[in-house]
Amino acid sequence: MTQAAAEKMTEIGQPLETPLHVIADIDTDPFFSWGIIGRARAMTAVFDLVRKVSVSDATVILTGETGTGKGIIAKAIHDLSGRSDKPFVTINCGAIPEHLLESELFGHVRGAFTGATVNKDGKFEMANGGTVFLDEIGDMSPDLQVKILRVLEEREFEPVGGTRTVRADVRIIAATHRDLEDSVQKGRFRQDLYYRLFVIPILLPSLKDRPSDIPLLIAHFLGLFGRRNHTRPPVVSESTMTLLKDYAWPGNVRELKNLMERWVVLHGDGTVTPADLPPSMHGSSHNPAMPNVLMGKDGICLNTAVSAFEKALIMESLRKTNGIKNQAAKLLHLNRTTLVEKIKRHQLRD
Ligand SMILES: Nc1ncnc2c1ncn2[C@@H]1O[C@H](COP(=O)(O)OP(=O)(O)OP(=O)(O)O)[C@@H](O)[C@H]1O
Ligand SMILES: [Mg+2]
Repeated sequence: MTQAAAEKMTEIGQPLETPLHVIADIDTDPFFSWGIIGRARAMTAVFDLVRKVSVSDATVILTGETGTGKGIIAKAIHDLSGRSDKPFVTINCGAIPEHLLESELFGHVRGAFTGATVNKDGKFEMANGGTVFLDEIGDMSPDLQVKILRVLEEREFEPVGGTRTVRADVRIIAATHRDLEDSVQKGRFRQDLYYRLFVIPILLPSLKDRPSDIPLLIAHFLGLFGRRNHTRPPVVSESTMTLLKDYAWPGNVRELKNLMERWVVLHGDGTVTPADLPPSMHGSSHNPAMPNVLMGKDGICLNTAVSAFEKALIMESLRKTNGIKNQAAKLLHLNRTTLVEKIKRHQLRD
């Protein structure tokens, strides 16, 4: 191991379950320059796809749960493409009020509406020659969906209130955390736009589907925030790491990153033990070998723990069967009525 690598390890504060050389070499990973960490098969498959699509101009749609990295992957695709020296312009379709979004995207002419005192370029013109990233496209209104479809098909649009047709030389990358197929079925998302967008879909895996990356991400973020805060990051005990690998991480990498920042601030230079974890992180265990970890020095409420375990198993069975209760009941060796009762009792939504 090189001297530099050894120094880096010391800096990082070593979580017990991650081999030292793995963390020391993290900055040589192919997507590290975008801050993207992932060595699980599910992530390296994404990286392969990203490299392939970058060289083309094809429309890409990034899907995946919140916090899985859709934003940083979109930027990586742009930077790897032939358009990298031109602008990368992001627009969050969910965050801008509907009546302003059209003008944000396509611009407007003077007098188009009250307050439009000057002509203004939209994001599509600003991005000329580069990439437009339409984030949260699933939140876009039906009217705008039609206009985006036209841009995708004909590369043309008109600024609000204008008659001049503008040609858009942009590559479009879209993202959503919604299930767009479901939105199409419910009539909230246009089917023609759906097919036009899904030329190259890239599904970003949830953290629970790549648990081998969890120790790596923990080490990476502890090191990062340790350096930022000029402090030695805490060491994560082995039993804590077991709980973290088993946790469902509904907020994915964003949730993990925020937790590591908190730990650096609160436990800098110390050790993080299971007692430092929020209660929700004790409850999602799928592993029957967990009691030794779960039982803290103050004991544990048996009824609460058993109920949490039951809930976790029900959620897992519903996830595995895409919510089909007959099949989920079979997985749990229950009849359907009993499962439905339990779902109600645990207040699980469909
Ligand atoms: N693989 C990864 N490696 C390192 N950091 C990551 C990774 N994935 C996500 N992050 C970090 O997690 C945070 C959330 O990522 P990002 O905003 O790209 O997620 P998202 O999928 O767009 O979420 P949302 O659907 O809520 O918009 C960011 O700070 C990002 O840098
Ligand atoms: Mg995002």
